Amino acid sequence: MKIFMDTANVEEIKGYVDWGIVYGVTTNPSLIAKTGRTQAEVIPEIAALVEGPVSAEVISTECEGMVKEARELVKIAQNIVVKIPCIPEGLKAVKILTAEGIKTNVTLVFSMSQALMAARAGATYVSPFIGRLDDIGVDGVQLVANIVQAFKLYGIETEVIAASVRNLEHVEKVMLTGCQIATIPTKVLAQMIKHDLTDKGLATFLADYEKSKK
Ligand code: G3P
Repeated sequence: MKIFMDTANVEEIKGYVDWGIVYGVTTNPSLIAKTGRTQAEVIPEIAALVEGPVSAEVISTECEGMVKEARELVKIAQNIVVKIPCIPEGLKAVKILTAEGIKTNVTLVFSMSQALMAARAGATYVSPFIGRLDDIGVDGVQLVANIVQAFKLYGIETEVIAASVRNLEHVEKVMLTGCQIATIPTKVLAQMIKHDLTDKGLATFLADYEKSKK
């Protein structure tokens, strides 16, 4: 499972790029709003930091507007993927963009049916939202597992990005689903490296080293 960062904060991304673990980045209008900067400012900087895909979302809700925005977004860098909402106009846009060789990430996916439709329209990626399903009492990780299994069954090449990841349990459970990517917020990424026994073990090793010095 590849690790993407689910943030639009350039400084946060820089920190983790140095660890060698960040393959791609996903953004959305809410994440960009949190930075106090514009999409036009942050996307080129993010695209220069990572080698893998950087998702930038359209804000139009009609096919024509989405396609127009998408064509502009992909001019920013070769690794831009256009994030399109999972609505009928979005699927039409995905079909057109796919035919033009533009990669898409269909977002706000909450069901198997939506995932299938997005994939059949030609989406490069689909993003089922785990946390938001959990919020309404539906098992989000199970949806990811089901989509991965169904895509495998039918030889569908669309990759699954587990999104709306809220905690370590989500990360560790989606790792077992076979989904290709999890996009992880910075707070959760910071928790992934931590273990009390690592800290205790290191403290002991360093103390013992001091004792053994001649
Ligand atoms: O990747 C989608 C994500 O940004 C949404 O997360 O926590 O707002 O549901 P959340």
